[in-house]
Amino acid sequence: MHDAAKIVGGLVLFAAVMTSPFWYNALTAAPAAVPALDPPPNGSKECVEPRAYMRANHMDLLNEWRDLVVRTGQRDYVSTTNGRAFDMSLSRTCLDCHSNKAEFCDRCHTFLAVNPPCWDCHVEPKEAP
Ligand code: HEC
Ligand code: HEC
Ligand code: HEC
Repeated sequence: MHDAAKIVGGLVLFAAVMTSPFWYNALTAAPAAVPALDPPPNGSKECVEPRAYMRANHMDLLNEWRDLVVRTGQRDYVSTTNGRAFDMSLSRTCLDCHSNKAEFCDRCHTFLAVNPPCWDCHVEPKEAP
């Protein structure tokens, strides 16, 4: 009985591992039904982490940043991709590059009907028309 349970468990795990590239792709590289997004006006070519990772995980990254800043006072984030250092700040870092918030963050969020409640407290960039 025990062995049968182990075998079934093993098969389930095996199936999950073998299909994980599929799950990974389904989550990160899904044929993006999002509108065209404008690149950073400052000419930056790279995000903090790779694009697919950012697309799928930027909310978690922002939560992690906030927790580290608020709870530990730590402000330096070192990119796991290219080793560059960033100040863990929504306004001063994300929106420094993505200063075209309306054509980037908002365009995607509006399209997907997401409305992150951050801007009551955090400064939005003032955009040139
Ligand atoms: C009720 C006000 C309020 C709201 C709403 C809010 N924050 Fe904050 N947040 C703060 C305060 C206060 C700090 C601490 C500021 C500091 O220590 O620099 C902070 C710090 C942060 C930090 C790290 C410091 C920095 O300069 O960014 C991040 C990242 C952050 N918040 C992300 C978010 C995100 C993402 C949202 C929306 C989902 C959000 N916050 C919504 C008040 C708020
Ligand atoms: C140094 C400039 C820079 C900073 C800082 C930066 N980004 Fe980016 N970001 C970019 C660039 C450039 C791209 C497009 C990358 C590509 O096409 O490979 C991008 C891509 C993205 C994407 C994916 C867009 C898509 O087409 O799927 C998201 C989401 C994103 N950034 C959010 C953020 C958030 C949130 C922060 C702060 C935690 C941040 N970025 C900080 C430059 C930056
Ligand atoms: C490629 C599309 C896309 C872009 C570009 C994008 N987002 Fe998002 N964002 C999403 C999606 C989709 C969600 C909702 C994810 C979920 O509900 O799990 C989200 C959620 C969030 C959340 C969490 C909201 C919540 O209520 O928990 C924050 C914070 C956020 N985005 C900030 C940003 C910022 C800041 C930028 C610009 C620098 C940005 N996003 C650019 C697609 C995008």
